[in-house]
Amino acid sequence: MNTLFMHCRPGFEGEVCSEIAEHAARLGVAGYAKAKPQTACAEFICHEPAGPARLMSALRFSDLIFPRQWARGDFVQLPETDRISVVLEHLAAYPVCGSLWLEVLDTNDGKELSNFCKKFEAPLRKALLGAGKLVDDPDLPRLLLTFKSGREVFLGVADAGNFAMWPMGIPRLKFPREAPSRSTLKLEEAWHHFIPREQWDERLHGDMTGVDLGAAPGGWTYQLVRRGMLVTAIDNGPMAQSLMDTGLVTHLMADGFTYKPKQTVDWMVCDIVEKPARNAALLETWLGENLCREAVVNLKLPMKQRYAEVRRLLERIEEGFKARGIKVQVGCKQLYHDREEVTCHLRRLDGGKR
Ligand SMILES: C[S@@+](CC[C@H](N)C(=O)[O-])C[C@H]1O[C@@H](n2cnc3c(N)ncnc32)[C@H](O)[C@@H]1O
Repeated sequence: MNTLFMHCRPGFEGEVCSEIAEHAARLGVAGYAKAKPQTACAEFICHEPAGPARLMSALRFSDLIFPRQWARGDFVQLPETDRISVVLEHLAAYPVCGSLWLEVLDTNDGKELSNFCKKFEAPLRKALLGAGKLVDDPDLPRLLLTFKSGREVFLGVADAGNFAMWPMGIPRLKFPREAPSRSTLKLEEAWHHFIPREQWDERLHGDMTGVDLGAAPGGWTYQLVRRGMLVTAIDNGPMAQSLMDTGLVTHLMADGFTYKPKQTVDWMVCDIVEKPARNAALLETWLGENLCREAVVNLKLPMKQRYAEVRRLLERIEEGFKARGIKVQVGCKQLYHDREEVTCHLRRLDGGKR
């Protein structure tokens, strides 16, 4: 098992390569990253068979920025008939797994393969159960099969609790009809990614207050309101009347980069399309000056050196907090609903006074 295989948004293969190569170098795992443009995947080929497992145990999948899914294993060529026997043969070298996902890549070819996967899954599952390679146990590794075509599959495994939350890293979120814009799903996905579900009631509840910078027409405000929060929406543009009718929203026509609340708010969210350095500075100010306790902010990506730029911004933010002597948890992910951007989540760990 020399290969660590990763899914990503098409067009971001280079970022995945840069990111994983940097971690591998830091962890002393020898190998090289490779990817073809627009294939929605990348590989890190390790010089030693134990390399991918070392990488996966040293890293938390949820901390990676650009990979949407990962697994260690090997590519296997499949015949036209009796694919299952060939899969079973190769799985002899794999651990017994506790669950199974069949995945495809986020490309047009991948979408066409989804039907094949749906049909293949039931007989494969039955065969794996029969052969004792699959049991129902969430504490065991997950078997992840990524089909590149009906004739080629990556047979992968990922350790329990250390892989994407959804197959292919693509959340199945339903667009709420009452929401004023589709970008509402970005904030909802951010919460799924950054906040464990069992903490939602404690960290996203109706006694809280929020500020939405660049709020119009209100997709993100909608999510805060849906959790019962009182929201100050900052934007020169109009907010959806349906949100204003809730009585929970105060709309201020002000500049999001200069507005400051009189009291600490629980949440600041910001979806202003601006230079990423400016949005990053906003994060440092809001958390650093105790204007909010948690924040979700979008960072638009530059055209080139996108991973390097994100790392540089995150380091600058973290150095800013260090200089202020405050503890802030910083997360960053290219979410499924993000396009040329990443989403940052920050949380004061010292509680942040009210
Ligand atoms: C991508 S849209 C936000 C969409 C919103 N999150 C939603 O879900 O409906 C960006 C918004 O930022 C606003 N904006 C741009 N610059 C701003 C600034 N300096 N201060 C406040 N709002 C700003 C724009 O008017 C625009 O409505």
